[in-house]
Amino acid sequence: HAAEAQRTDLMTITRHVLNEQGRHPESRGDFTILLSHIVLGCKFVASAVNKAGLAKLIGLAGDTNGEEQKKLDVLSNEVFVKALVSSGRTCVLVSEENEEAIIVDAPLRGNHEFDKIMVTVSSHQKLHGYCVCFDPLDGSSNIDCGVSIGTIFGIYMIKDKDNVTLDDVLQPGTDMLAAGYCMYGSSCTLVLSTGNGVNGFTLDPSLGEFILTHPNIKIPNRGKIYSVNEGNAKNWDAPTAKFVEKCKFPQDGSPSKSLRYIGSMVADVHRTLLYGGIFLYPADQKSPNGKLRVLYEVFPMSFLMEQAGGQAFTGKQRALELVPRKIHDRSPIFLGSYDDVEDIKALYASES
Ligand code: AHG
Ligand code: MN
Ligand code: MN
Ligand code: MN
Repeated sequence: HAAEAQRTDLMTITRHVLNEQGRHPESRGDFTILLSHIVLGCKFVASAVNKAGLAKLIGLAGDTNGEEQKKLDVLSNEVFVKALVSSGRTCVLVSEENEEAIIVDAPLRGNHEFDKIMVTVSSHQKLHGYCVCFDPLDGSSNIDCGVSIGTIFGIYMIKDKDNVTLDDVLQPGTDMLAAGYCMYGSSCTLVLSTGNGVNGFTLDPSLGEFILTHPNIKIPNRGKIYSVNEGNAKNWDAPTAKFVEKCKFPQDGSPSKSLRYIGSMVADVHRTLLYGGIFLYPADQKSPNGKLRVLYEVFPMSFLMEQAGGQAFTGKQRALELVPRKIHDRSPIFLGSYDDVEDIKALYASES
């Protein structure tokens, strides 16, 4: 009977977020509306990814964002920009695929009528809006061979939506309200945290709904896997090189770790979150700030790892305490199981 009740008690992502937002009496459903538009974008990209090979969506788009842009990169970006702007809840957007931040036209930054009423009722309440930083398609190099790819997003509150400046965007990750990713793989999984732990939802294509399948995800304190592009080994600094050496030749007689590297951050992070272990994209002599971008790759994944009981480190500091200077700033990143990250922190501490 319980199983029957379970099956008919569909916990969709929208219902789950409404329950969570219910804890914030002042919330007016704005966040839930914003999230429903992000979910719509993910559903669209999921269907485009599934048809990519058939719909001639693979191959190069011909323009670049500093790297070669794939057709799916460009398409996904357009879908998310349009979905976010049409939500009527965003003030500014930062996308990997747009050189400049997108300042949303004032009328679309929030339903003024409702806000006006709210302002008369509680004038202390600033008219807030949201900033969304996102990587519409992560793991582009894996599109053409059908390997898992994803979308990554982080959500900030903008203090005063009528005066939006870039400073609103260049905030430390500790100011983030929510973060998540959607992985387009054998199944379509959306992992989300709004600051009360991490939950995973799987798309049921027959319903077109994301259903709660991984409640309250906690990352194991230590894992047996390390995940890094060993091809960069000749350029690593000493602490990173020593850490990877210890993974392969442990001195304390423990078994060697396994190497798993998919090359899509979303897939490597998702496996790390569920199985434990450590994902690293270190600095190297060629790229002293590593490759991954702070606002829409490092911060959202670091937020999720901390919410799941893990941690995220840049080689110098707690990743979420970074303050980006420019919207496409990069940072080295070591994230995953708490104890595994402690090991790399000790190596960097002993070096400095
Ligand atoms: P994107 O496709 O959004 O540009 O991101 C690719 C990133 C990330 O997904 C992955 O972890 C990393 O690039 C892989 O880089 P290498 O191929 O240098 O290992
Ligand atoms: Mn890219
Ligand atoms: Mn990416
Ligand atoms: Mn990308």
